[in-house]
Amino acid sequence: MLFQRNARLRALPSREFTRAVVVSLPPWAVVTPERRAHVERVAAVLSTWATAMRAPEGERARWLEAAWLHDALRDAPAANELAHGPLAAERAAHDGLTDRGVLDAVRYHSLGFAQWDDVGKMLYLADYLEPGRTFDQELRRSLAARVPAERDAILKQVAARRIARVIDGRWPLLRETVDFWNALVGY
Ligand SMILES: [Fe+2]
Repeated sequence: MLFQRNARLRALPSREFTRAVVVSLPPWAVVTPERRAHVERVAAVLSTWATAMRAPEGERARWLEAAWLHDALRDAPAANELAHGPLAAERAAHDGLTDRGVLDAVRYHSLGFAQWDDVGKMLYLADYLEPGRTFDQELRRSLAARVPAERDAILKQVAARRIARVIDGRWPLLRETVDFWNALVGY
């Protein structure tokens, strides 16, 4: 259920709510200007959705924190398509981030993750639907507009499209992606 986890966290005097929220790229980020622009668009999309969905402030902050962190090491020398999410999550944890949902959102944003809470799902959607990507612009714009009212239905559509691309490219489907898809369809 939307925001459930956040409501639970907000009831606790958690460290997460005394720690400054990341509102831009972290100082250790290694990103090209194009990557930075992508990250800014992902954050902007998530902010728009948070407003439309009347997300509580703490939840909006989690979505934005995940947005700023997710590709922060994408252009680092040690990074690649599979490694950059885990690398950023590990670095953020090292810096004191303890929100498991935000860390899992960042870690698995390229693959999907069956145990995601709202922040992982929202980041996965925004990463694909942000308006700067050049493919399928009209379709993606219409899917993005429907997210606030039909989040779970659009999540299935986006996952299906992303997974189809993996299959079309004859790349392997990793276990996390298969488990994510099965969870989405209730298997
Ligand atoms: Fe990424």
